[in-house]
Amino acid sequence: MEIKAIRGFNDILPDEIGKWQFVENTAREIFEGFGFSEIRIPILERTELFSRGIGEATDIVEKEMYTFSDRSGNSLTLRPEATASMARAYLEHQLYTFDPVAKLYCLGPMFRYERPQKGRYRQFYQIDAEVFGVGNPMVDVEVILMLIHFLRRVGLEKLELQINSLGCPICRPRYREELKTFLTKRSFQLCEDCQRRLQTNPLRIFDCKVETCQEAIADAPKVSDFICPECQDHFEKVKKYLEMAGLVYILNPRMVRGLDYYTRTAFEVVSYQLGSQNAVTGGGRYDNLFQEIGGMDIPGIGFAIGMERLISLMPKEKEFIQRPHLFIAAMGGETQREAYQIINQLHLEGIRTELDYEGKSLKSQMRRADKLKARYALILGEEELKRGKAILRNMETKSQEEIPVGDLLSVLKKKVLL
Ligand code: HAM
Repeated sequence: MEIKAIRGFNDILPDEIGKWQFVENTAREIFEGFGFSEIRIPILERTELFSRGIGEATDIVEKEMYTFSDRSGNSLTLRPEATASMARAYLEHQLYTFDPVAKLYCLGPMFRYERPQKGRYRQFYQIDAEVFGVGNPMVDVEVILMLIHFLRRVGLEKLELQINSLGCPICRPRYREELKTFLTKRSFQLCEDCQRRLQTNPLRIFDCKVETCQEAIADAPKVSDFICPECQDHFEKVKKYLEMAGLVYILNPRMVRGLDYYTRTAFEVVSYQLGSQNAVTGGGRYDNLFQEIGGMDIPGIGFAIGMERLISLMPKEKEFIQRPHLFIAAMGGETQREAYQIINQLHLEGIRTELDYEGKSLKSQMRRADKLKARYALILGEEELKRGKAILRNMETKSQEEIPVGDLLSVLKKKVLL
């Protein structure tokens, strides 16, 4: 039986990779311009990091983690997100001793055992950026500005920035109780999962997609109405700085995010072109995460972009395929040997070159050059080669010129590497 990839795990094929590389390179360029440095963290962590960091009573921890015991009996988990690991690395390596403020980003695959559908996979890629060590709302907007700037640079339009405030451990318990009282009266409308959530973590009912649960919470009290004066002040400043930065936002009082570590600012960037899985990015402030995972009292804020969703929204017209710069059509014998010399030399100079190794007819070689969308073709005929010449054909304009074979490299460098 033919072996296939696991459900929800995708191959990213060569004809798509150009987009991925463009997105990754643009992220690196922009994030580094904003003062962020890359960090690479392990794919496997101790399960406890996520159960404590993300929260026991979240969907991710309850149902979606790839958790297993290793041969020594340690419980390990494939990372479902990067924030907790980045916080762990910051503490473990005492990055704060150099400077308390760390601006870090990372790129890579995450794993969640969710039901696969369009825009939702079991292995998916995130671009994640975090700022540790600053509680000032200025940084909330610095991070959001970087995100929006990046999304625009990769060609995304018609996005909506939604924000909310989720309060803090001082004000949220009161809201939680209010919500619980409100939903207890409507508990007959709640699905089995939400009946349980009502006891363990009522805020998570906002994430439920079941229609009757959605109806039950439609008129529920809003977290932003219950936040304490300090959280209110923080939220007002975030809004003011967003306006100063010229960033348009929508207040979404129902957005609670699916992870328990959030405090105060929460945000998402959504696209209505995406259907039900419409969040391209999720993020927010998490001023208690460090304490949850056993560290000091360090504030943090960041976001993660879902790369598959981002890439599905990129303009279709933009070309990302790595087209050959040159296709060499050789007419056999001596010309074939010459072509082989040339291709090796050009590759060392970074000129993408293809060659026909099969000794096919000129017509068939030119058909292949066309199919590969080569920008130029070099036709090496016996007669021309004796004179040290070859024909260089521009495959787009169809114009041809005879050039000395010795000049090929300099001619091509001017034409294709500029
Ligand atoms: P999240 O909202 O769980 O947040 O994920 C962020 C983004 O990852 C989502 O908006 C979505 O684009 C993408 N994503 C999530 N799950 C899937 C999936 N199964 N398939 C495809 N794409 C997916 C976090 O992960 C937080 N760590 C974000 C953060 C960073 N908050 C603060 N710092």
